[in-house]
Amino acid sequence: MYSILFVCLGNICRSPTAEGVFKSFIDDAGLSNQVLVDSAGTSAYHVNEAPDPRSQQEAKRHGYDLSRIRSRKVTSDDYEKFDLIIAMDESNLNNLKSFKSSIYGAKLKLFLKDFAPLLSIRDVPDPYYGGAKGFTQVVQLIEQASEGLLEHVKAEIKSKRG
Ligand code: 4NP
Repeated sequence: MYSILFVCLGNICRSPTAEGVFKSFIDDAGLSNQVLVDSAGTSAYHVNEAPDPRSQQEAKRHGYDLSRIRSRKVTSDDYEKFDLIIAMDESNLNNLKSFKSSIYGAKLKLFLKDFAPLLSIRDVPDPYYGGAKGFTQVVQLIEQASEGLLEHVKAEIKSKRG
């Protein structure tokens, strides 16, 4: 399996949305038996909680079901287990890097910068303390970067197959 972990702060808004959206891209591409998608948070603030109701509602409006996801904190095993660890913003990327970047730096990515480089922003903005527009923007940005990530994953699977 090729494996991808999305990471934000709380694992209740941005990274579960990315998990749900990208799983749907993977399903639609017929790759669900070859690609594993998961998400986690750099904090333990919301461990075991379902995604924020505002994120679930906005995702649902776009056809994605987040209801079965539960928040968990990133673990040291994740660095070994996943092929790609994709941060939603630079603060979370720096947090991930501060832990084991010397060994695992190459698999640590910034979602928009690395997979939607034509967008003018690099971070998926934290919607938690803001209004509904922020949640809509999160889904839109994640869908755009998921296009680029899907192409990357297809190429990786091909090259791994040799
Ligand atoms: P997320 O959003 O990192 O996209 O899940 C947040 C969720 C909770 C908090 C901050 C951001 N919080 O401070 O509790």
